[in-house]
Amino acid sequence: MGPKKVSVYSLKPQETIKLMHIHCSAQPPAASKTDILLILSPEKPGAGGKLAGAVSFFLREFEKSQQFAGKKGEAVWVHRPKGIQAEWLLLFGLGEISKLDSTTLMARIGHGIKTALSKKRPTLAVGFHAVKIPPASLVQLAGIAAYHAAYRFDQYKPEPRAAGSDAKITLHAGRVASPLKEINAVGEALAYAKNIANQPPNVITPAALAREAAALGKKFRLAVTVWDERRLNKEGFGGILAVGGGSQNKPRFIRIDYRGGRRSAPPVCIIGKAITFDSGGISIKPSDRMDEMKFDKCGGVAVLGILRAAASLKLKLNITGLIAAAENLPSGAAYRPGDLVKNLSGKIIEVLNTDAEGRIVLSDALTYASRLKPRAMVDLATLTGACVVALGTEAAGLMGNDARLIAQLLKVSERSGERLWQLPLYTEFHDKVKSDIGFVKNTAGREGGTCTAATFLNAFVDHSTPWAHLDIAGTAWTTKEEPHRAKGATGFGVALITEWLRTLR
Ligand code: BES
Ligand code: MN
Ligand code: ZN
Repeated sequence: MGPKKVSVYSLKPQETIKLMHIHCSAQPPAASKTDILLILSPEKPGAGGKLAGAVSFFLREFEKSQQFAGKKGEAVWVHRPKGIQAEWLLLFGLGEISKLDSTTLMARIGHGIKTALSKKRPTLAVGFHAVKIPPASLVQLAGIAAYHAAYRFDQYKPEPRAAGSDAKITLHAGRVASPLKEINAVGEALAYAKNIANQPPNVITPAALAREAAALGKKFRLAVTVWDERRLNKEGFGGILAVGGGSQNKPRFIRIDYRGGRRSAPPVCIIGKAITFDSGGISIKPSDRMDEMKFDKCGGVAVLGILRAAASLKLKLNITGLIAAAENLPSGAAYRPGDLVKNLSGKIIEVLNTDAEGRIVLSDALTYASRLKPRAMVDLATLTGACVVALGTEAAGLMGNDARLIAQLLKVSERSGERLWQLPLYTEFHDKVKSDIGFVKNTAGREGGTCTAATFLNAFVDHSTPWAHLDIAGTAWTTKEEPHRAKGATGFGVALITEWLRTLR
């Protein structure tokens, strides 16, 4: 028995985050009655897609006087611009955009929006000059960019923002079919996921994460089931129990069911690693930057965001979200290097390094998911530092057992602006994770660390189930404030996987 729990913390995630809304308009931007009109313009715009009237007058004038050429990040503010309804006109440069991918374009648009929002006015209109991509794609990119640009984690600041103080943003991109509903659903899910992921580890413990899941379930009519320590023991979730053993904050396994499909249709499973704090355990990490390991829950939190978006879009699918939540701490009760752990599949894992804990908790979750015979399953995990070395912070590592699923994810990745890069799962890696005394060992040296980690996961996946693994170690959070988005959690995976789910019938 541990010491009696005394609640010393009254901190908790802000209940209702301020939900900004994006609107669309086919009006010419100059006619928009708004506080700020932001005009996004590339450098050396080619023919087509150009704005006319007063806006083009200002663009020409500032070009002539060499104050604005559309260079990347260039910004010119004009107060009470003649012939324009807005109080402020902001000309913002996108740089040369013809060769950009959607991620970079989205970031540049976001930079402009974040610059405009810094004036803290209640209404913002956005116009696009010579940005020649189809209006629907443009609105989707700009809408998500706006949600990223507007988000801040400030609930614990001495002066947090007042509720409802977010700007109303109107995108003037011509007549658009209606991606708006999707944008707002994904944007709100993104903000929600960031808000939970940014919480400190003394607020979001595994049990608190389970409570957040339950609250989400209540709001969006999702069935939420939580395994506490007793039930984990009873049912044999040995991996989650081993990893969570060192902490007073006991582990949880969380299942969230959204049913929008036929009763008999097998679900799509979305699985997330949620280590609410990863100290490394007995194989403890260096203290430098250890605070960032509160973000080791980002895969699991993305699952919450994805289920939220799917439910608010009423997707015609059955989706099961699974979150393996534990805190990895050293203590007299912690698991150790050398331990043998029997996971949910009954197979024995040889623990060589307690800091390779993600794959151990996921082995239970993947075993559980495989038993549901899903039509496909995707896991998201901040799994390896090696992935950050390989891809930096620009793309998540993508691995899996099914070429079609991989191709689908790569395709939606381009649209969502969340980059994926495929890494291999060669058979040779399998020999490297074999254990001399059990089934698999949890580390296989530094070489190919991301691939061997995924190969370990693969050992717990039913081979008849299409499975993909996203290593989001480099993409789940940023360590500094960026021009287009706030420091902290990025919500990576929410837009991408929701976009993928939308393509499934
Ligand atoms: N959560 C970490 C991975 C990580 C490290 C993500 C840095 C983002 C930034 C994971 O649990 C871990 O510690 N992995 C080890 C594995 C190793 C011991 C085989 C790693 O990558 O060093
Ligand atoms: Mn670790
Ligand atoms: Zn970890």
